[in-house]
Amino acid sequence: MNIPTNIPMPDGMTKEEIKEVLLREEYGYLPPKPDKVYAEEVETEEKFCAGKVIRKSLKIHFEAEFGKGSFPVNFTYPKSDKKVPLFVHINFRPDVPDRYQPTEEICDRGYAVMSFCYKDVTDDKNEFESGIAKLIYPNGRKNPTDCGKLGIWAWAAMRCLDYAVTLPQIDSDRISVVGHSRLGKTALLSGMMDERFYCAISNDSGCGGAAIARGNTGETINDIDRQFSYWFCENYKKYIDNEDNMPFDQHWLLVANLPHKVYVASAKEDLWACPPNEYLSCILADKYYRDAGKNGFIHPDRLPETGEVLHEGDIAYHIREGRHYLSREDWNYFIDYLER
Ligand code: GCU
Repeated sequence: MNIPTNIPMPDGMTKEEIKEVLLREEYGYLPPKPDKVYAEEVETEEKFCAGKVIRKSLKIHFEAEFGKGSFPVNFTYPKSDKKVPLFVHINFRPDVPDRYQPTEEICDRGYAVMSFCYKDVTDDKNEFESGIAKLIYPNGRKNPTDCGKLGIWAWAAMRCLDYAVTLPQIDSDRISVVGHSRLGKTALLSGMMDERFYCAISNDSGCGGAAIARGNTGETINDIDRQFSYWFCENYKKYIDNEDNMPFDQHWLLVANLPHKVYVASAKEDLWACPPNEYLSCILADKYYRDAGKNGFIHPDRLPETGEVLHEGDIAYHIREGRHYLSREDWNYFIDYLER
């Protein structure tokens, strides 16, 4: 495979330095972590999914230096004598199950899921007054390097983690964060911000997520900025039609997920997310995982074939048939990997 040589590599940089570049130039700085996080149980269903699963509707409350707030979360876990691993799923909808969250199948495989609807945290709109955004940015005013919406959704995923690690039924060493598309970008950002995650899983995250920006044949920074500039910080605009002058590229986001694992999933027909560039990111991040004493990205020296599943390393990848979607097939591959 021809690996482009014009892509900046974070050689000799610490994780903190890499993270700093990504926050300053792309995502913006996230709010500080809260002093206190706790959950209120709103409703419990003891016999969910044929009685195999417990489902709770929760409200996660936090007390931070910028204020007190809350957002709704769903928590489902299989009845088990042992501690179970957990997915924090940043979802598009609050539904359980949901077309992107086959809850029964996930629980049948021995996994718990804590999910929230990203819009219940703050709207997916170019404003900073909805949901918890208004606490973080009083009067909706934010500085150019403050985080955009991806950062706020990622912050909420970390609050789920804060609560999840306190739960006796959850194996706190095995909590992964997962998201699809814009929320796949968010999952990788959450993984970069929080070392407690076991694995950060990006499904079809594309531009601003797993896909290398240089030479991206799908969505460009220009495209994403036209509709979704508010996901990022203002510095990101410097790279509109100017990818070649980025001092970083998206594999830095994978590298900054060290020391934990990272999983990138692509779909064959999802050309907007540019599968070859999602794969390239994993290849470029490989060396840094190895340098950190991890197994890197174990892959063939060619583009993967559809249906290929690369689970040998601490960076994992698959590409499946079909379009932009978070499917049962994707979930099964994620769990296969985490079970290894
Ligand atoms: C749009 C956007 C992508 C994003 C996707 C999604 O297509 O351009 O960057 O990943 O929405 O979140 O579904």
